[in-house]
Amino acid sequence: MAQGGAFITIEGPEGGGKTTQADHLGTHLRDLGRPVHVTREPGGTWLGERIRVLLLERTGSTAPTDPLADALLFNAARRQLVREVIRPELAAGTTVICARFIDSTLAYQGYGAGVDIDLLRRMNDAATDGLRPDLTVLLDVPVEAGLARKAPGDVTRFEAEYDLGFHRRVREGFLAIAAAESDRIAVVDASGGIEDVSREIARIVDERVLRGEPPASPVRSTR
Ligand code: TMP
Repeated sequence: MAQGGAFITIEGPEGGGKTTQADHLGTHLRDLGRPVHVTREPGGTWLGERIRVLLLERTGSTAPTDPLADALLFNAARRQLVREVIRPELAAGTTVICARFIDSTLAYQGYGAGVDIDLLRRMNDAATDGLRPDLTVLLDVPVEAGLARKAPGDVTRFEAEYDLGFHRRVREGFLAIAAAESDRIAVVDASGGIEDVSREIARIVDERVLRGEPPASPVRSTR
């Protein structure tokens, strides 16, 4: 990280406001003079956006997809994003903010759908060549509240096809990962107002990522 940009991921169950918060954090860091690239999973490349449609679009089909097939597709999108966007941007000194990353596969396909967690970790490692975020912000929100927040047009196959028990396991999975990796993952209560949550995320990023780093651009006096 000292040489390149910082890599920050925003994770959590449905309805925590990840996209909005990724955008707000991007604005906060740009205001500090840092180059920032905001992206999301699955997506961020032409391949990833196509995989996103395949995985999440509600086609009306009643045939459930196999969770290991889901994990392979999420990881195909992830590999393309890491190779095409994340690694080059980090190497160029840009801070990358990504809404969802490796922890979503562990939480959804692992804790939620029952795929072996160690297998998923190996798949994640293969897709990312072992790339780890410098900081992961886990936007935690109770399952019912999170699902209720989603606009009808935002409801993906995952919300439509999985039951409340699945989403509860996903949330518990995220919290278990965070407890095991507290040096990387900061849990933020996302049930409050958007601005309050944004401020808390900015505070955590300033403290855990930016502290000790020199300012990105020299401070110039203006007349
Ligand atoms: P979102 O971008 O609106 O959060 O939708 C992404 C959906 O995809 C969400 O339901 C979580 C799911 N997902 C997985 O199940 N596994 C993954 O690895 C990723 C990245 C997302």
